Amino acid sequence: MTDTAQTQDDLREQVRARYAAAATGAGTHADGCCAGGCCGDAGCGCGTTAGDGFGATLYSLDEQAELPDAARLASLGCGNPTAVAELREGETVLDLGSGGGIDVLLSARRVGPGGKAYGVDMTDEMLDLARRNAAEAGATNVEFLAGHIEAIPLPDASVDVIISNCVINLSVDKPAALAGMHRVLRPGGRIGISDVVAGDHLSPAERAERGSYVGCIAGALSDAEYRDGLTEAGFTNVTITHAHEVADGMTSAIVRATKSS
Ligand SMILES: C[S@@+](CC[C@H](N)C(=O)[O-])C[C@H]1O[C@@H](n2cnc3c(N)ncnc32)[C@H](O)[C@@H]1O
Repeated sequence: MTDTAQTQDDLREQVRARYAAAATGAGTHADGCCAGGCCGDAGCGCGTTAGDGFGATLYSLDEQAELPDAARLASLGCGNPTAVAELREGETVLDLGSGGGIDVLLSARRVGPGGKAYGVDMTDEMLDLARRNAAEAGATNVEFLAGHIEAIPLPDASVDVIISNCVINLSVDKPAALAGMHRVLRPGGRIGISDVVAGDHLSPAERAERGSYVGCIAGALSDAEYRDGLTEAGFTNVTITHAHEVADGMTSAIVRATKSS
């Protein structure tokens, strides 16, 4: 194994361990900080503080009311991709890094019984939590798959919409994740992603000064890197809309793009 591959494996293991700890503490906040940490470690909020930029407070009260408490409390995202993905009845949706399942469950309701919502996550503890939350919600058109977002375990051209909430920044191989997204989308398919995005003026070292990799800050792409990466993967109509600041010069943003018909 090369040094780079070893570093990537080590980093991915740190991410997995961090979110395994968050999953087993989700819903209890036993130590007042998501029992192991999560996205947003700079303020250590985990969505427990209104306006901290991460977690369930980013969802409308109506949306929160649709969910079991455990799914709501497990939210570790930095936006609300289901609000921007314009999901339609009958569509197939894929959530990359689905965590406790909040966006999969909301998507499943939007696409209805004729549609399907998949979640992919690499952390067994998160998959267990998501499956329990789906059972509690009585959702039948959902499926949680174990896997890496860099090697999505679904066939080519099998998905209408890809969503993701604060996960691409955690990927240790972002070109592979973006290429895989393009592969599994049907022609004309679209992505609606919430993610932390760095200002183009910030170097990787300056991003790392603002927060950790596992806390969703250090691994964030810049605007230009996101646009170039999506374009190189084959996407068109790329837009990045900045929402709220999560660290100095870094925002939670909505990233949209389409796969040509
Ligand atoms: C910050 S949490 C977000 C969870 C969820 N999207 C939400 O909004 O609550 C990141 C999630 O992505 C998963 N994850 C991180 N990197 C991954 C990768 N390369 N492949 C698959 N899952 C990954 C973690 O296990 C964790 O569940």
